[in-house]
Amino acid sequence: MRIVALTGAGMSAESGVPTFRDAGTGLWARFDPQALATPEAFAADPARVWGWYRWRAAGVAAAQPHAGHAGLARLARAHALRVVTQNVDDLHERAGSREVVHLHGALFTSRCSRCAQPAAPEPLLRPARAGDDGRVPPPDCARCGAPVRPGVVWFGEALPSAAWDAAVAAVREAELAIVVGTSGLVQPAASLPGLAAAAGAAVLEINPTPTPLTASATASWRCSAAEGVQRLAARLDAGERDPAALIS
Ligand code: OAD
Repeated sequence: MRIVALTGAGMSAESGVPTFRDAGTGLWARFDPQALATPEAFAADPARVWGWYRWRAAGVAAAQPHAGHAGLARLARAHALRVVTQNVDDLHERAGSREVVHLHGALFTSRCSRCAQPAAPEPLLRPARAGDDGRVPPPDCARCGAPVRPGVVWFGEALPSAAWDAAVAAVREAELAIVVGTSGLVQPAASLPGLAAAAGAAVLEINPTPTPLTASATASWRCSAAEGVQRLAARLDAGERDPAALIS
């Protein structure tokens, strides 16, 4: 079966990585990503923004993929399953998923903020002296000397066109789209489930709470990412091949 898995921060929540908008525990409860995840914030104070991403990177590095990540990686060995994620962490890859499409970039890639020269891997985890306020000056570009930035998409920036094109191709070819752990609030990623449905795919939402995507989904399972992916995998393993029956 041709499957596309569209994942958001809720996919990483069970690994202990904060979501963006979950009340009280989300990143936005403690920081204002709008004030940090922007080109303007980085230009104004590179050390503050770099220090915040180092904090996020340390949290991801300490986290482990869960059964939902492993389930998607296992399903991809028996089915044509593509992962398209809004997440910048590497938990899908560490669980064994290959060719993960990162719509919003990847935390463990970095590039020059001026000439876009790719920086050496892992600078976010390189030992550094953090100031008391968590500010850490980013490394300088080896080519032009400007500050290196995380390889993520900031508010107001365009998505990587290759990633977007790959995501659209994946949803247009899918027989089943599973939308896991996203609030469906951020465009253009939130338009992908509708593109899948328009191309004839059955759409399954896996999320403990309803979202703006719920109404248009073929089915919506009120459960966690790990529980939902394992339930789906068990039905596929049992031989169910009709997408709508599979998710009813
Ligand atoms: P949000 O934080 O907006 O939404 C997280 C979703 O995950 C919510 O709908 C939760 O109900 C759900 N959730 C929480 N725990 C879950 C679990 N264990 N299993 C399944 N679902 C769970 O995160 P996103 O929708 O991914 O963009 O946010 C989209 C984008 O907004 C992010 O990529 C980021 C942010 O601005 C950029 O940084 C450009």
